[in-house]
Amino acid sequence: MAETVFVSGDLPGDALPVLRERFDVVHDVGGVASGAFSVVASRVRGIVALLTDRIDRQLLASAPELRIVANVAVGVDNVDLDACRERHVIVTNTPDVLTEATADLTFGLLIDAARRITEGDRLVRAGGFTGWTPTFMLGARVHGMKLGIVGLGRIGKAVARRARGFGMHVGYMQRRREFETVERALGATWVPSLDDLCRSSDAITIHTPLTAETRHLFSRERLASMREGSILVNTSRGPIVDEEALAEALERGPLAAAGLDVFEREPLVCPSLLTRPNAVLAPHIGSADRPTREAMASTAAANVVRVLDGAEPLTPVGLGVKPALV
Ligand code: GLV
Repeated sequence: MAETVFVSGDLPGDALPVLRERFDVVHDVGGVASGAFSVVASRVRGIVALLTDRIDRQLLASAPELRIVANVAVGVDNVDLDACRERHVIVTNTPDVLTEATADLTFGLLIDAARRITEGDRLVRAGGFTGWTPTFMLGARVHGMKLGIVGLGRIGKAVARRARGFGMHVGYMQRRREFETVERALGATWVPSLDDLCRSSDAITIHTPLTAETRHLFSRERLASMREGSILVNTSRGPIVDEEALAEALERGPLAAAGLDVFEREPLVCPSLLTRPNAVLAPHIGSADRPTREAMASTAAANVVRVLDGAEPLTPVGLGVKPALV
């Protein structure tokens, strides 16, 4: 009898047909919280999970035959990695394939927040465009700005590459300094202290995983220490930023604007952010270009096929290794 694989949510591309050829696929857009999952939990061998699925101890206890959780995301903060390791459940993610798409969106949000594009769009639609004037809707200068990248991993590096084209001065913060050859190729300077990076950057962009250590890394105090008139962009995970405090920093300063693709309690957004005209809010679409999402789904499917065939997964998450601060 074919092994059972649970697929959470709709997947673009050929991932579902590939899985259906080999396995007894149970598919429910309600995810692992659905009744469909609990019906098959005792025999499920693989789960293709979304970042909205909580893979915790309780779920793992209900699925004693489980061999692999293939997360359709690069972030794995929805998965209890310790509990998976204890139960010898392999966890995989989808790195690389979404790097460029996420960097593209990061730049989109940065330019939008700095040059007030969405704000202007709202104004035009509301009939507020009454004619060009030299002082109308002035924003921050993008070209040549000092950009601070928190986390020079794959996505952080792709952002730095784009920044070169905009003549930006790039500083980056992470614990471990990159090799000089990498720094030179990216034109990026290591700033070991996050506070210094915040004080010296015209815009900060966050590219670090969500861990206990990075939760509210951008706290009220840190946001308050950012440069006057600066911009914050977050395309990583919402809880890295204290959303209430961000709304306040956007209202009273020092921040001029923010571009956010992720929120603390998705899909909810802090009401005080919703009313801030200087916040550009995107519905977690960092990786949402079609080829990227298809590649993410097929990577997850390939990981399930390989692991249930007894082969090494393509993109395992190191279960023994805690993601460091970027
Ligand atoms: C999306 O947010 C991802 O982690 O892939």
